[in-house]
Amino acid sequence: MKVDVLLGLQWGDEGKGKVVDVLTPKYDVVARFQGGPNAGHTLEFNGEKYILRSIPSGIFQGGKINVIGNGVVLDPLLFRQEAEALAASGHDLTKQLFISKKAHLILPTHRVLDAAYEASKGSGKIGTTGKGIGPTYTDKISRNGLRVGDLLHNFEERYAAAKAKHEAILASLNYSYDIKELEAEWLSALDYLKRFNLIDSEQVINDYLKDEKSVLAEGAQGTMLDIDFGSYPFVTSSNTICAGCCTGLGVSPRNIGEVFGIFKAYCTRVGSGPFPTELFDETGDRICELGHEFGSVTGRKRRCGWIDLVALKYAVMINGVSQLIMMKSDVLDSFETIKACVAYRIDSEEVTTFPYEIGEGIEPIYVELPGWNTDMTKMQSEDEFPEEFNAYLSFLEEELGVPVKIVSVGPDREQTIVRYTED
Ligand code: GDP
Ligand code: IMO
Ligand code: MG
Repeated sequence: MKVDVLLGLQWGDEGKGKVVDVLTPKYDVVARFQGGPNAGHTLEFNGEKYILRSIPSGIFQGGKINVIGNGVVLDPLLFRQEAEALAASGHDLTKQLFISKKAHLILPTHRVLDAAYEASKGSGKIGTTGKGIGPTYTDKISRNGLRVGDLLHNFEERYAAAKAKHEAILASLNYSYDIKELEAEWLSALDYLKRFNLIDSEQVINDYLKDEKSVLAEGAQGTMLDIDFGSYPFVTSSNTICAGCCTGLGVSPRNIGEVFGIFKAYCTRVGSGPFPTELFDETGDRICELGHEFGSVTGRKRRCGWIDLVALKYAVMINGVSQLIMMKSDVLDSFETIKACVAYRIDSEEVTTFPYEIGEGIEPIYVELPGWNTDMTKMQSEDEFPEEFNAYLSFLEEELGVPVKIVSVGPDREQTIVRYTED
């Protein structure tokens, strides 16, 4: 068996959580491979809404195994809050959830470092989620990190050494802080974490594959936030792309199956950094309002704009996307016309390949398509799609060279339409 991967093609918040939940019944295992509690994955079903941060989105569909892989960074305190809230709503995960011993721990001082680095950048700040993601991955790569497996041996000593290093950096930045309360709570959350199955997840996942079990890997953030290929330095600190699944779960590239690339019918971004198709007008406000575009973790207003096919084509290429999934189509239900950026004008030249930098001076070149002016939120099959909507889909498929297999017409699990059902 192979691992299918579902990942975001834009700047995150494409709707990954919803679709992972919808696809889970087809799989035996769902696994997160990167990111941490910077993610906020929303699921809606039976009139309930859940926001997951570190826990995979496969936990609601009948006792499937869910894995937090080695590529994830885990904050024990936020994890406890998330898992306890789920337990309170009747979802006890202690048997269903496996956590890699090689996943790195987010320490309280990582959160402080995140804030300190942001403060030191002034107006050039990244606009991080403040969850300590960058500093934790920095420690991982510089070989100073602590891992979940370290909880089992001499943890206090290792923790004190790591904390001392962080304190020295914070002192050099003249950053004042008080983490006494946070630290006490964080330390008390470690015992809770130890109640879970802490495993060598690479071994377990490869054993599952050998036993013909199917695995779905759930990405966090999006391709344009990838540390290597995103809009650097305004990115997150992990590989959000398909290759991140190999390193973040210990899966060979030969064992990757389908790559589901998920995108919104338009585009959003939260935090700082370039966004060529961003709208600063009423249309942008309208998309924001109709799409309820506010961050699920930080509540920040998301910046909104038209779909960017230059960036999307790049994302399809980098990830080897085999199937596309279009989300939030319903948000555009009442628009007279829809725009799609097909090229950038840079120094009066038209560019269709994604440039090294997408900073100032880029002008998006749009094609305009007729809107469908139809409420799609109750549609059940593609036979009901209005002609203009089909035309938008065909246009995107032609531009991107990959079929759109799923269309989402609302936040609920049920508002999901699978196309080409004869496949
Ligand atoms: P993720 O981080 O990729 O899982 O996405 P988020 O959960 O952060 O953001 C997606 C938001 O859009 C959530 O509030 C979802 O409930 C909502 N959503 C998902 N699909 C649709 C859709 O097709 N239509 C509408 N209107 N909302 C959707
Ligand atoms: P999901 O999985 C959208 C953004 C932050 C910031 C940058 C770096 O829900 O799609 P970080 O805290 O990671 O160091 O912040 O990345 N960011 C996200 N934007 N969705 C996310 O996750 C994000 N996770 C991080 O806003 O610009
Ligand atoms: Mg999100």
